[in-house]
Amino acid sequence: MKKIAVVTGASRGLGYATSEALAQRGFKVVMAMRDPEKSQKQINAMKMKDLDVVAMKLDVSQEKSINEFAEAFRREYGYLDVLVNNAGIFIDDEDGGNKSVFKTKSSTIQKTFATNTLGPFLLTQKLFPLMQQEGSGRIVNVSSGMGQLSEMDGNYAAYRISKTALNVVTQVFAAEGKGHDILVNSICPGWVRTDMGGAGASRDINQGIKGILWAATLPKGGPTGGFFRDGDAIPW
Ligand SMILES: NC(=O)c1ccc[n+]([C@@H]2O[C@H](COP(=O)([O-])OP(=O)(O)OC[C@H]3O[C@@H](n4cnc5c(N)ncnc54)[C@H](OP(=O)(O)O)[C@@H]3O)[C@@H](O)[C@H]2O)c1
Repeated sequence: MKKIAVVTGASRGLGYATSEALAQRGFKVVMAMRDPEKSQKQINAMKMKDLDVVAMKLDVSQEKSINEFAEAFRREYGYLDVLVNNAGIFIDDEDGGNKSVFKTKSSTIQKTFATNTLGPFLLTQKLFPLMQQEGSGRIVNVSSGMGQLSEMDGNYAAYRISKTALNVVTQVFAAEGKGHDILVNSICPGWVRTDMGGAGASRDINQGIKGILWAATLPKGGPTGGFFRDGDAIPW
Protein backbone atom coordinates (compact mmCIF):
# COMPACT_ATOMS: atom_id res chain seq x y z
CA MET A 1 0.00 0.00 0.00
CA LYS A 2 1.29 3.47 -0.85
CA LYS A 3 2.41 5.49 2.18
CA ILE A 4 0.21 8.46 2.92
CA ALA A 5 1.06 11.71 4.68
CA VAL A 6 -1.03 14.63 5.91
CA VAL A 7 0.71 18.02 6.08
CA THR A 8 -1.13 20.97 7.64
CA GLY A 9 -0.54 24.55 6.57
CA ALA A 10 0.51 23.19 3.17
CA SER A 11 -0.42 26.28 1.12
CA ARG A 12 3.02 27.90 1.41
CA GLY A 13 6.31 28.02 3.29
CA LEU A 14 7.60 24.93 5.11
CA GLY A 15 4.30 23.05 4.71
CA TYR A 16 4.30 23.40 0.93
CA ALA A 17 7.96 22.42 0.62
CA THR A 18 7.53 19.46 2.99
CA SER A 19 4.55 18.24 0.94
CA GLU A 20 6.51 18.44 -2.29
CA ALA A 21 9.54 16.68 -0.78
CA LEU A 22 7.45 13.85 0.72
CA ALA A 23 5.68 13.36 -2.62
CA GLN A 24 9.10 13.22 -4.33
CA ARG A 25 9.98 10.46 -1.85
CA GLY A 26 7.00 8.38 -2.97
CA PHE A 27 4.29 9.41 -0.51
CA LYS A 28 0.76 10.30 -1.40
CA VAL A 29 0.45 13.68 0.31
CA VAL A 30 -2.78 15.23 1.52
CA MET A 31 -2.02 18.93 1.60
CA ALA A 32 -4.35 20.31 4.28
CA MET A 33 -5.01 24.01 3.97
CA ARG A 34 -7.55 26.74 4.66
CA ASP A 35 -8.25 27.63 1.04
CA PRO A 36 -7.53 24.80 -1.42
CA GLU A 37 -9.02 26.77 -4.32
CA LYS A 38 -6.38 29.48 -3.93
CA SER A 39 -3.60 26.89 -4.27
CA GLN A 40 -5.16 24.91 -7.12
CA LYS A 41 -2.70 26.18 -9.75
CA GLN A 42 0.32 25.14 -7.65
CA ILE A 43 -1.24 21.75 -6.88
CA ASN A 44 -1.90 21.16 -10.59
CA ALA A 45 1.72 22.06 -11.36
CA MET A 46 2.88 19.46 -8.80
CA LYS A 47 0.58 16.87 -10.36
CA MET A 48 2.05 17.65 -13.79
CA LYS A 49 5.40 16.62 -12.30
CA ASP A 50 3.78 13.24 -11.39
CA LEU A 51 3.63 14.08 -7.70
CA ASP A 52 0.76 12.34 -5.93
CA VAL A 53 -0.73 15.26 -4.02
CA VAL A 54 -4.25 16.32 -3.20
CA ALA A 55 -5.51 19.41 -1.39
CA MET A 56 -8.11 19.15 1.38
CA LYS A 57 -9.74 21.92 3.35
CA LEU A 58 -8.63 22.33 6.97
CA ASP A 59 -8.56 25.28 9.33
CA VAL A 60 -6.68 23.98 12.36
CA SER A 61 -8.01 26.77 14.57
CA GLN A 62 -11.60 25.50 14.16
CA GLU A 63 -12.65 22.29 15.90
CA LYS A 64 -15.53 21.80 13.46
CA SER A 65 -13.14 22.00 10.53
CA ILE A 66 -10.79 19.48 12.19
CA ASN A 67 -13.68 17.06 12.80
CA GLU A 68 -14.91 17.40 9.21
CA PHE A 69 -11.41 16.95 7.82
CA ALA A 70 -10.68 13.89 9.98
CA GLU A 71 -13.96 12.25 9.04
CA ALA A 72 -13.53 12.95 5.31
CA PHE A 73 -9.93 11.70 5.45
CA ARG A 74 -10.92 8.51 7.30
CA ARG A 75 -13.69 7.80 4.81
CA GLU A 76 -11.51 8.48 1.76
CA TYR A 77 -8.25 6.78 2.82
CA GLY A 78 -8.78 4.84 6.07
CA TYR A 79 -5.08 4.73 7.05
CA LEU A 80 -2.29 7.19 7.80
CA ASP A 81 1.50 6.86 7.94
CA VAL A 82 2.69 10.42 8.58
CA LEU A 83 1.12 13.50 10.14
CA VAL A 84 3.03 16.79 10.00
CA ASN A 85 1.45 19.41 12.26
CA ASN A 86 3.04 22.37 10.54
CA ALA A 87 0.37 25.11 10.34
CA GLY A 88 1.30 28.00 12.58
CA ILE A 89 0.96 31.71 13.20
CA PHE A 90 3.26 34.28 14.78
CA ILE A 91 1.16 37.37 15.46
CA ASP A 92 2.63 38.87 18.63
CA ASP A 93 3.47 42.17 17.01
CA GLU A 94 0.88 42.13 14.22
CA ASP A 95 -2.28 41.68 16.21
CA GLY A 96 -2.58 45.22 17.53
CA GLY A 97 -0.37 43.95 20.33
CA ASN A 98 3.32 44.22 20.87
CA LYS A 99 6.23 41.88 21.24
CA SER A 100 6.67 43.02 24.87
CA VAL A 101 5.18 40.62 27.39
CA PHE A 102 3.69 43.64 29.15
CA LYS A 103 1.67 44.52 26.04
CA THR A 104 0.63 40.97 25.06
CA LYS A 105 -3.16 40.76 24.73
CA SER A 106 -5.10 37.77 26.00
CA SER A 107 -6.77 37.51 22.57
CA THR A 108 -3.34 37.16 20.93
CA ILE A 109 -2.48 34.30 23.28
CA GLN A 110 -5.85 32.64 22.64
CA LYS A 111 -5.64 32.94 18.83
CA THR A 112 -2.06 31.73 18.76
CA PHE A 113 -2.84 28.85 21.09
CA ALA A 114 -5.86 27.79 19.00
CA THR A 115 -3.72 27.44 15.85
CA ASN A 116 -0.31 26.41 17.16
CA THR A 117 -1.31 24.12 20.04
CA LEU A 118 -4.96 23.14 20.32
CA GLY A 119 -5.25 22.51 16.56
CA PRO A 120 -2.37 19.99 16.50
CA PHE A 121 -3.72 18.42 19.71
CA LEU A 122 -7.25 17.89 18.33
CA LEU A 123 -6.09 16.77 14.90
CA THR A 124 -3.67 14.25 16.42
CA GLN A 125 -6.41 13.02 18.76
CA LYS A 126 -8.65 12.38 15.74
CA LEU A 127 -6.03 10.78 13.45
CA PHE A 128 -3.96 8.81 15.99
CA PRO A 129 -6.42 5.87 15.97
CA LEU A 130 -5.66 5.33 12.27
CA MET A 131 -1.99 4.84 13.22
CA GLN A 132 -2.91 2.57 16.15
CA GLN A 133 -4.94 0.50 13.73
CA GLU A 134 -1.83 -0.08 11.57
CA GLY A 135 0.50 -0.30 14.58
CA SER A 136 2.79 2.36 13.12
CA GLY A 137 3.03 6.05 12.29
CA ARG A 138 5.19 9.16 12.45
CA ILE A 139 3.95 12.45 13.88
CA VAL A 140 6.01 15.60 13.48
CA ASN A 141 5.07 18.69 15.42
CA VAL A 142 6.77 21.71 13.90
CA SER A 143 7.78 23.59 17.00
CA SER A 144 10.37 26.31 17.55
CA GLY A 145 13.48 27.09 19.55
CA MET A 146 11.40 30.01 20.84
CA GLY A 147 9.44 27.44 22.85
CA GLN A 148 12.54 26.06 24.56
CA LEU A 149 12.27 26.49 28.34
CA SER A 150 16.06 26.28 28.51
CA GLU A 151 16.47 29.37 26.31
CA MET A 152 13.38 31.37 27.26
CA ASP A 153 13.28 35.11 26.64
CA GLY A 154 10.82 37.86 27.56
CA ASN A 155 9.45 38.81 24.14
CA TYR A 156 6.84 37.25 21.80
CA ALA A 157 5.12 35.56 24.74
CA ALA A 158 2.07 34.24 22.86
CA TYR A 159 4.17 32.41 20.27
CA ARG A 160 6.61 31.10 22.88
CA ILE A 161 3.84 29.78 25.15
CA SER A 162 2.09 28.08 22.22
CA LYS A 163 5.25 26.25 21.11
CA THR A 164 6.29 25.20 24.63
CA ALA A 165 2.80 23.76 25.05
CA LEU A 166 3.03 22.08 21.63
CA ASN A 167 6.06 20.24 23.01
CA VAL A 168 3.80 18.87 25.76
CA VAL A 169 1.39 17.71 23.03
CA THR A 170 4.35 15.85 21.53
CA GLN A 171 5.17 14.15 24.81
CA VAL A 172 1.63 13.07 25.72
CA PHE A 173 1.03 11.44 22.33
CA ALA A 174 4.54 9.95 22.33
CA ALA A 175 3.62 8.26 25.62
CA GLU A 176 0.50 6.81 23.96
CA GLY A 177 2.59 5.58 21.03
CA LYS A 178 5.07 3.65 23.19
CA GLY A 179 4.95 -0.09 22.60
CA HIS A 180 3.74 0.51 19.05
CA ASP A 181 5.84 1.80 16.18
CA ILE A 182 4.27 5.26 16.53
CA LEU A 183 7.01 7.88 16.86
CA VAL A 184 6.03 11.41 17.87
CA ASN A 185 8.58 14.23 17.91
CA SER A 186 8.90 17.99 17.98
CA ILE A 187 11.30 19.57 15.57
CA CYS A 188 12.63 23.10 15.22
CA PRO A 189 13.30 24.02 11.57
CA GLY A 190 15.68 26.83 12.55
CA TRP A 191 15.14 30.39 11.36
CA VAL A 192 13.90 29.98 7.80
CA ARG A 193 13.21 32.41 4.93
CA THR A 194 9.42 32.07 4.63
CA ASP A 195 6.61 34.61 5.02
CA MET A 196 6.87 33.99 8.76
CA GLY A 197 10.67 33.90 9.05
CA GLY A 198 11.22 36.90 6.75
CA ALA A 199 13.88 37.60 4.15
CA GLY A 200 16.61 38.08 6.75
CA ALA A 201 16.37 34.55 8.14
CA SER A 202 19.53 32.46 8.14
CA ARG A 203 18.21 29.31 6.42
CA ASP A 204 16.67 28.54 3.07
CA ILE A 205 13.58 26.40 2.81
CA ASN A 206 15.47 23.20 1.98
CA GLN A 207 17.56 23.54 5.13
CA GLY A 208 14.33 24.23 7.03
CA ILE A 209 12.52 21.08 5.93
CA LYS A 210 15.49 18.76 6.46
CA GLY A 211 14.63 18.00 10.07
CA ILE A 212 10.91 17.66 9.32
CA LEU A 213 11.63 15.05 6.64
CA TRP A 214 14.03 13.25 8.96
CA ALA A 215 11.36 12.94 11.68
CA ALA A 216 8.65 12.01 9.16
CA THR A 217 10.68 9.11 7.76
CA LEU A 218 12.32 7.71 10.93
CA PRO A 219 12.95 3.98 10.81
CA LYS A 220 11.30 1.56 13.22
CA GLY A 221 12.98 1.87 16.62
CA GLY A 222 13.80 5.55 16.01
CA PRO A 223 13.51 8.19 18.71
CA THR A 224 10.16 9.33 20.09
CA GLY A 225 9.08 12.02 22.52
CA GLY A 226 12.07 14.21 21.67
CA PHE A 227 12.89 17.70 20.45
CA PHE A 228 15.26 17.91 17.47
CA ARG A 229 16.89 20.32 15.07
CA ASP A 230 18.43 18.80 11.91
CA GLY A 231 18.10 15.37 13.50
CA ASP A 232 20.09 16.34 16.62
CA ALA A 233 18.40 16.38 20.03
CA ILE A 234 18.03 19.84 21.59
CA PRO A 235 17.06 20.69 25.19
CA TRP A 236 13.39 21.31 26.03
N1 LIG B 1 10.02 30.27 9.44
C1 LIG B 1 10.67 30.12 10.57
O1 LIG B 1 11.73 30.74 10.79
C2 LIG B 1 10.15 29.18 11.63
C3 LIG B 1 10.96 28.95 12.77
C4 LIG B 1 10.52 28.07 13.74
C5 LIG B 1 9.30 27.44 13.59
N2 LIG B 1 8.52 27.69 12.49
C6 LIG B 1 7.24 26.99 12.40
O2 LIG B 1 7.14 26.36 11.14
C7 LIG B 1 5.76 26.25 10.75
C8 LIG B 1 5.58 26.77 9.33
O3 LIG B 1 6.01 28.10 9.31
P1 LIG B 1 6.37 28.89 7.96
O4 LIG B 1 7.64 29.60 8.23
O5 LIG B 1 6.23 28.03 6.79
O6 LIG B 1 5.19 29.98 8.00
P2 LIG B 1 4.33 30.68 6.84
O7 LIG B 1 5.14 30.80 5.61
O8 LIG B 1 3.75 31.88 7.49
O9 LIG B 1 3.18 29.59 6.57
C9 LIG B 1 2.27 29.29 7.58
C10 LIG B 1 1.33 28.26 7.05
O10 LIG B 1 0.39 27.94 8.10
C11 LIG B 1 -0.91 28.06 7.58
N3 LIG B 1 -1.91 28.36 8.60
C12 LIG B 1 -1.93 29.39 9.46
N4 LIG B 1 -3.04 29.34 10.22
C13 LIG B 1 -3.72 28.24 9.80
C14 LIG B 1 -4.94 27.63 10.18
N5 LIG B 1 -5.70 28.17 11.15
N6 LIG B 1 -5.34 26.51 9.56
C15 LIG B 1 -4.59 25.97 8.58
N7 LIG B 1 -3.44 26.50 8.15
C16 LIG B 1 -3.01 27.63 8.76
C17 LIG B 1 -0.82 29.14 6.51
O11 LIG B 1 -1.94 29.05 5.66
P3 LIG B 1 -2.61 30.32 4.88
O12 LIG B 1 -1.90 30.40 3.56
O13 LIG B 1 -4.05 29.95 4.77
O14 LIG B 1 -2.39 31.52 5.73
C18 LIG B 1 0.51 28.75 5.86
O15 LIG B 1 0.32 27.68 4.97
C19 LIG B 1 4.97 27.04 11.80
O16 LIG B 1 4.43 26.16 12.75
C20 LIG B 1 6.03 27.91 12.44
O17 LIG B 1 5.71 28.28 13.76
C21 LIG B 1 8.93 28.54 11.51
